[in-house]
Amino acid sequence: MDAAAHLLGPIVAISGSLRRDSINSAALRAAAAAAARHGVVVAIDDSMRALPFFSPDVEQFPPEEVRRFRETCRNAGGLLFAVPEYTFGIPGAFKNALDWLVGSGSLYQKPVALLHLASVGRGAHVREALAHVLRAHNAEVTHHLVPIATRDRDADGEIDETRIVGELWAVVAELAKRATAPRAA
Ligand SMILES: Cc1cc2nc3c(=O)[nH]c(=O)nc-3n(C[C@H](O)[C@H](O)[C@H](O)COP(=O)(O)O)c2cc1C
Repeated sequence: MDAAAHLLGPIVAISGSLRRDSINSAALRAAAAAAARHGVVVAIDDSMRALPFFSPDVEQFPPEEVRRFRETCRNAGGLLFAVPEYTFGIPGAFKNALDWLVGSGSLYQKPVALLHLASVGRGAHVREALAHVLRAHNAEVTHHLVPIATRDRDADGEIDETRIVGELWAVVAELAKRATAPRAA
């Protein structure tokens, strides 16, 4: 990374799945581990779990969990999202998290890399839905197809297959090149 890298915000990774054994969360752990081996910090943030349901009534003076989540996203140099498709769309918990970021403008011009892990021929609906929603946030989005199957996971559910880990690192490396400095609140 170049000399100015320390001025950039960290890369923050968020899984759109709350499932304990989530393949999306496993992919982000593998991406973070690969990045660490290259000297790049990817911070996995699962604070979405603690967010209340979005309501415009509390938008102006949101609870602490929301303020912290907004700050994490605003300060990120780039965001790495891995989101499964639920019923042809975005999982509710993740969409809820995104809704909290509209009023704060936390994703405005933010580099966002979307990891799509579904096998070929699947996941097109969530890709399209995320593209629409993140356009409304004015985020700078790139899409990355990295199909991962259950057989690509080890006995602990982690992803250590060399080719896939290489592809995950390539996504992070590209995002790191696009990373920006934190914007003032
Ligand atoms: C409620 C629910 C709805 C789903 N709907 C779809 C769907 O519409 N299209 C699809 O390709 N997969 C669908 N799936 C499959 C998930 O996208 C898939 O299992 C994914 O790997 C789950 O991600 P995770 O392992 O990170 O939790 C659905 C799964 C669940 C639990």
